[in-house]
This record gives sequence, C-alpha cells and structure tokens, in this order.
Amino acid sequence: MTILVTGGAGYIGSHTIIELHKANHNVIVVDNLSNSSKESIKRVEEISGKSVKFYEYNILDQNKLKEVFKENKIDTVIHFAAFKAVGESVSKPLKYYHNNIAGTVSLLEVMSEFHVKNIIFSSSATVYGDPVSVPIDESFSLSVTNPYGRTKLMMEEILGDVFRADNSWNIVILRYFNPVGAHKSGRIGEDPNGIPNNLMPYISQVAVGKQKELSIFGDDYPTVDGTGVRDYIHVVDLAYGHVMALKKIEDRSGLNIYNLGTGKGYSVLETLHAFELACGKKLNYKISDRRAGDIASCYALPNKAEKELEWTATREIDEMCEDAWRWQTKNPNGYKSGK
Ligand code: UFG
Repeated sequence: MTILVTGGAGYIGSHTIIELHKANHNVIVVDNLSNSSKESIKRVEEISGKSVKFYEYNILDQNKLKEVFKENKIDTVIHFAAFKAVGESVSKPLKYYHNNIAGTVSLLEVMSEFHVKNIIFSSSATVYGDPVSVPIDESFSLSVTNPYGRTKLMMEEILGDVFRADNSWNIVILRYFNPVGAHKSGRIGEDPNGIPNNLMPYISQVAVGKQKELSIFGDDYPTVDGTGVRDYIHVVDLAYGHVMALKKIEDRSGLNIYNLGTGKGYSVLETLHAFELACGKKLNYKISDRRAGDIASCYALPNKAEKELEWTATREIDEMCEDAWRWQTKNPNGYKSGK
C-alpha cells in the first residue's frame, strides 16, 4: 500500500516509516519541518534502504496538499502532524487550535475530495484527563486539562462526526501512552527543542551532562514511592502498532479506537533508576513541587489492541533506557550533532 505520513520527520513518524518499509509499504511524507529535521528522513532511508518521497508542505495549505494527492495514488493517511507541548499550548492556545484542528480539517477535506477515506490518527492518553482508576481502557470517560489535550480530543470528535456522516470512512484512533526510547541503530530518536519537557529526554540530558540534575515534580502522590506513575512504551513498539492498525483499515471495519501502551506503570524514581543502570552512572536529582496539571498515575489496559490488532508491546523499561541512551550519546545535540 502507499501510505501518506503527515509529520513523518518527527519522533514517532520517523520510527513508523521504518516499520512501514519493513512491511513493504510505500511511504510519502508531508512535513513542514516546524519541529523536526529533514536529517531524520535521510537516516530513515539509510536504515531501511528504501527511499521516501518527501514534500516540505504545511497541511494547512490545501493547494499544496492537493498536489500530493494528484501526484500519488494514496491508500491510507497516517496523521501525526501536530504541535505537542502542553505548557506552550496553555500560553498560546490559538496557535494549537489553528495548527492541530484547522490542519486536520484541511487534510480531511482534501482526503475527501480525492476519495481517500482511510486514516490512522495519532491521539494520546491525555484524552482520559485524570482517570478515576487505573489501568485505563478505551471506554473510560474523556476529559482534558489543557489546550493541547483539547485539540486531541476535538480531533477525535471531528473524526467521529466525519464517520457518522459517511460510514465509508475507515478510521483508527490510536491513544498513545508515553513513547520513549529510540531505534536500535542510535541514528534516529527524540530531538526536543531546548530544555526537554518530558521525563526520559530530560534524564538523558542529565546523563550526558547537558542538564545539572533532574527535578522530580512531587513525591507526595498516592503511588508506590510518591512520584508520578506512567506507562512508558518503546517508540518502536508504538510504531509497529501503526502497521498492525493498517490491517484494520484493510478490513474496512469503520471507526475503531485503541490504547497503545504496555499495561505497566513505572514511577519517576523507578524510571530514573532504570536509566542509571543503562548508562552506568548515578544521576543527580532533587524533589520539586508538583507540576500543574500532572496526575498521579496513568497506565493502559492494552487488551483491546492485543485482541483486535494482534499487537502487543514487547520491549521492557531497561531496553527503552538503553536505546534512549545510545541515541543520546551518539547525538548529544540531536540531529544538529551532524553525521
Ligand atoms: N517529570 C518529572 N520531571 C521532569 C519531567 C517529568 O518529575 O523533568 C514527571 C512528571 O511529573 C510525570 C512523569 O515524569 O509524573 C512523566 O512526565 P512527562 O512530561 O514525560 O509525560 P506526561 O505523562 O506528563 O505527558 C505525556 C506527553 C503528553 C501526553 C501525556 C498523556 O508529554 O503529550 O503524556 O499521554 F498528553
């Protein structure tokens, strides 16, 4: 199949292309490089030995998008392109609504015009807000605490409306838990701008000496050791989930929603200690105040994806940390580190 990947130069997108290539799919990328680097595509091609047709376009530009659909016979779209920084979304909500919501509507309109009605959408466990209990299954009620999360929830709702209006669409919504780690080669990985917001890239930068110490945001949560618990999932497992989701699209089975997580939760301290083992050194940390909007625990019940997509995460926390560390040491400044 020919798959259009929006946001294919980004962290999850680049890893997904490799899994798509492995499964013999043909990949086309549209990415405006607003938060990513073309170097990632070059390295993806080098790893998989296959080429990627790349368009440096913004999905908001429908004329450009139409060119892509005219020039290529696209079977399915995997839609990653979106802004994702929670804090920035609070201070610049319109930037998030414009890019994420209007961008998705623009894409869906062009898809519709070209009768391409198959889409896999990149959602997030953030749509569960502060869950009443853990593990979280897909039937839990949805609520959000920030504009970024609201864009993910709104995009899910828009897709639901599109499907209800025309049930010839095939839509898979994937709710990711916390993607971490990197490809085994150490050639592609997460490349945050400036000071990382997320735990694993922050710990990696402490380990490589770019940050002095980790601030642990709160140690008084009702969890195993008082620090926040999350479901960290290896990005390669997550990427493979998209290949399995494509089979659901091929079955023409309407609208389906899946959690992609491991089903296991690790606290901040447990994650830090796993990383210390991977990098072979003790890492400095201090306990700070809770971060606004954070929740105590969030981990998936991944049974639905296991049963219906025949997908399960296989990589453990030690491998996630080893792979994140390899990427960090080989590319201390991300893709800017050069060859
Ligand atoms: N944490 C720290 N110190 C840090 C960074 C994080 O203690 O410097 C803690 C957080 O308090 C939390 C845990 O580490 O307990 C994980 O934090 P992340 O920022 O890595 O991840 P979140 O679970 O807060 O957020 C992530 C994504 C969001 C997504 C959300 C739910 O960043 O985009 O998961 O899926 F919405």
